[in-house]
Amino acid sequence: MEPLRLAVLVSGRGSNLKVILDAVAGGALEASVVGVFSDRVEPPAFEWARRHRVPVLTVVAGETERRAAYDARLAGAVLGVRPQAVVLAGFMRVLSPVFLEAFPDRVLNIHPALLPAFRGLDAQAQAVAAGVRFSGCTVHFVDAGTDTGPIILQTVAPVYPEDTADTLAARILAKEHKTCPAALQLLAEGRLRIRDRRVLIDWDGRQPRSPRDSVAEWQDSTGSWL
Ligand code: GAR
Repeated sequence: MEPLRLAVLVSGRGSNLKVILDAVAGGALEASVVGVFSDRVEPPAFEWARRHRVPVLTVVAGETERRAAYDARLAGAVLGVRPQAVVLAGFMRVLSPVFLEAFPDRVLNIHPALLPAFRGLDAQAQAVAAGVRFSGCTVHFVDAGTDTGPIILQTVAPVYPEDTADTLAARILAKEHKTCPAALQLLAEGRLRIRDRRVLIDWDGRQPRSPRDSVAEWQDSTGSWL
């Protein structure tokens, strides 16, 4: 099986990018990161890409540039590395259909809440303010809405009374770091289908390096369920 060609879009720190690159290097993710793109100049995330000799490119929006024009430019740049899927790993712009139509059902996002709760910005602060006992993270396919696309995997994290947005964000981030590579490995193995806005995971026809056991393992260790 050829490794899945992944483009990763980032805006800042890049801890999820690092985890993806490490999983690829360690053989846990049968993918190849073929380009890292950002809407910001020199985000810290680029450092991780460079360490793994992955090309980086910044596409900055012009001050008066319309969203569609920017998204078309970004799509053009990303298409240049011929990815089979695009991962939004802390990419802080909402992408319009102009971008999404270039990669139909092939754009994934990591969101720091259990969707459909707490869409949009500052999801961890929203969870703390709402007083929920549990939050977590979601890896989903991106559609034209904001954080509304079909859900691939979710992992639960507890919320404690003394939590701030930051302490909760750190707890959720640890879950993201397991959930994101697991979802990407399922995609790499061709096990994901979208039907009626739901993602079906095909566990049949296990291949020799199936992630099923490792998924069960992280499920146990994180309290997640599929
Ligand atoms: C992550 O917590 C991710 O879930 C969140 O940004 C952080 C990026 O961290 N994404 C969103 O809020 C998207 N709406 P990272 O740069 O260290 O991977």
